[in-house]
Amino acid sequence: MTSALSAGVIPAAGSGERLGAKRPKALVKVGGCTLIYRAASKLSKVVDEIVVAAPVGYEAKIAKSLRKLSVPVVVITGGRSRTESVSLALGQLTPGIRYVLIHDAARAFAPISLIRKVLQMLQGGENAVVPAIAVTDTIKIVDENEHVQSTVNRESLRAVQTPQGFARALIDRAHEEARLNELIGTDDASLVEMLGATVLIIPGDERARKITTASDLLHYRNLKQKMKQNVKRSDSKGGKV
Ligand code: CTP
Ligand code: MG
Repeated sequence: MTSALSAGVIPAAGSGERLGAKRPKALVKVGGCTLIYRAASKLSKVVDEIVVAAPVGYEAKIAKSLRKLSVPVVVITGGRSRTESVSLALGQLTPGIRYVLIHDAARAFAPISLIRKVLQMLQGGENAVVPAIAVTDTIKIVDENEHVQSTVNRESLRAVQTPQGFARALIDRAHEEARLNELIGTDDASLVEMLGATVLIIPGDERARKITTASDLLHYRNLKQKMKQNVKRSDSKGGKV
């Protein structure tokens, strides 16, 4: 019997326009490590292989930075949209892969426990699993003049995160359909939804928040700094005992 293998697909090819850094967002560092390294190293603890969609010109640099991970890593050139980047990466998976976890490099601090949970749900028979958190702001729909049209019932809203997990056959089919119909989604589950398949939401994690703007980056840099200081403090305490 062949065991059911899993893969991680990391779309990391974006330019990070809203972040406004000097380099593509995946190459930005927090606490001495790039976002792509952080995302890939966590995934590598759970899946059997990883495919990264990299920004043009950064493929070799990223491949080099990931060469010591415990699973095989393939780095390809990404596409013009996130959907295209994922689609190209899916095309590189080895034949034995049965489960695929698609994880944004920009959600570099998603904990291993969340990644593991998504895979476990797939292994338990789910075909599409998406972590999400409840929306706490009130959301309004506006017209082109910024006049409010209506207020959405917050109870049924979820802000989705990654990793999003899928049965390989389903996500391949969803991306194939998207390609044929020239559809682009801001996540992968939306492509699966278009096929009419059921997508299960599971509890997400604050740490899986996406780094989009400079203030998101600052939040994680401050967090890392605090953690470092706490370690130093407990080390020095330890020294005195
Ligand atoms: N992504 C990708 N290929 C693209 C565009 C985005 O692989 N053509 C990836 C990004 O690298 C990121 C994830 O998709 O890890 C989520 O996208 P987003 O947060 O929007 O990142 P960017 O597109 O880089 O940022 P921006 O939209 O501000 O330019
Ligand atoms: Mg983008």
